Amino acid sequence: MKKFMTSDELARDDRFTRSSLPLDFLMAEEVTVEQIETTMTTLLSNPDMLKSMEDEGGAASLLSGGPRLNPEEERAKLTMKTQMHGIFMGEMQALEAAGRSAWDFQDNEELPWEFQLDMCRQTWDEGRHVEIYSALLDHVDCEIGEFNENLFLFEFGCSDDPAERVTGVNRCLEGLALDVFQQTIRFGKAADDETIAQSVDFVSADEVTHVKFGQVWAKALTEGDPERRQKIVNFQRKVDRAFSLGGLRGGSYDGGATEAFLPIAREFRKVAGFSDEEIDEVAGAGPKVTS
Ligand SMILES: [Fe+2]
Ligand SMILES: [Fe+2]
Repeated sequence: MKKFMTSDELARDDRFTRSSLPLDFLMAEEVTVEQIETTMTTLLSNPDMLKSMEDEGGAASLLSGGPRLNPEEERAKLTMKTQMHGIFMGEMQALEAAGRSAWDFQDNEELPWEFQLDMCRQTWDEGRHVEIYSALLDHVDCEIGEFNENLFLFEFGCSDDPAERVTGVNRCLEGLALDVFQQTIRFGKAADDETIAQSVDFVSADEVTHVKFGQVWAKALTEGDPERRQKIVNFQRKVDRAFSLGGLRGGSYDGGATEAFLPIAREFRKVAGFSDEEIDEVAGAGPKVTS
């Protein structure tokens, strides 16, 4: 089987449609508000969502659907479908990324057996998460393929350096999952929907472990090699900026932030081994936003 696949080589059946990767936007050091709105509309919307946005005054209404999403609002159901579908696709890509990490580096003599074990454990967890989110899609009355898939998560998990790989997949992708899940749990509780709140809480417990794998292995593989460690830190900053989605991620739930589209799940991240400084770095990783 081929090693080191690129994101466009991932297999999907005909239920799935891909939207193009907004790489220029994700890599930019400076973005405009208009670019953020246009990109997020492309990433998150389907025809129903576009219609709802039109009725509510444009793309900006989409971006106010974060932590303030009120279950009583009419568009809450549609927004939750969008989010569940996005997470389901993210779990698929996390499954593929973890599976590739176990496979791509199997002959790498630098890596102890424990590395493979951790990657296999994660692959097993992600397979279960895909099942759980597939059931949650049924729960919110959403079908697989109702929204486009975007491959930007897997895109940043393709490095052939194992220390960069775990940084991209485990620290950055899984870290972003913690933030999104925290938001979903809050929505489940606010909507009195025990199924959403409990299921996502259980999945989050696994994701904390996956983030820890990233923290532990990125440090272990660069021990005593300041040059390589710096290379990994630079890569990490680049991916943190990309995953800030144009700076829409920031603040923290525990700080009571309600303005950010996606606040940081500070407590979850601490349990996963992030220091306060590291969390602040993630929160401030976005590009400069101009009007
Ligand atoms: Fe997962
Ligand atoms: Fe995970």
